[in-house]
Amino acid sequence: MKLKTTTVDTVSIIEIPKITDKKGRGNLSVIENDCVPFDIKRVYYLYDVPSDAYRGGHAHKALYQFLIPLSGSFDVILKDGENTKKVSLNKPNKGLMIVPGIWRELENFSSGAVCLVLASEVYDENDYIRSYNDFKLFKSR
Ligand code: TYD
Repeated sequence: MKLKTTTVDTVSIIEIPKITDKKGRGNLSVIENDCVPFDIKRVYYLYDVPSDAYRGGHAHKALYQFLIPLSGSFDVILKDGENTKKVSLNKPNKGLMIVPGIWRELENFSSGAVCLVLASEVYDENDYIRSYNDFKLFKSR
């Protein structure tokens, strides 16, 4: 996927299968490899995020990420250099699929919110674009 042509429209909500217990013992959601369009190489999570803090503030060159609000809620601001889109995540069976070449910011975390991230690659600082100016340059090339 080319950084230049990736737009915020390619970011999508994916519904995660939910198994509701017939005896009222709650829900179970399961993610297997056919749920997300990449092989999962890394899992990490954000928690204890103050309500006035924001995370993200970067784009990735090759990384695919699937964000799941395991608990509570938060907002994701997505930018492709031209358009901006805001998605509120608040259901543990609905995740956000972010493709490479999209600037993202996470904010407005509720108390106790947990953001689980499934990632297509192991951690690599070289895959980050951490300056919005650099991001704009990448998109305009
Ligand atoms: P970063 O991705 O910048 O967090 P956020 O976008 O949520 O603000 O990561 C924060 C720090 O954690 C940074 O120093 C890199 C480190 N880190 C790892 O060592 N491994 C990882 O898998 C991740 C996601 C971050």
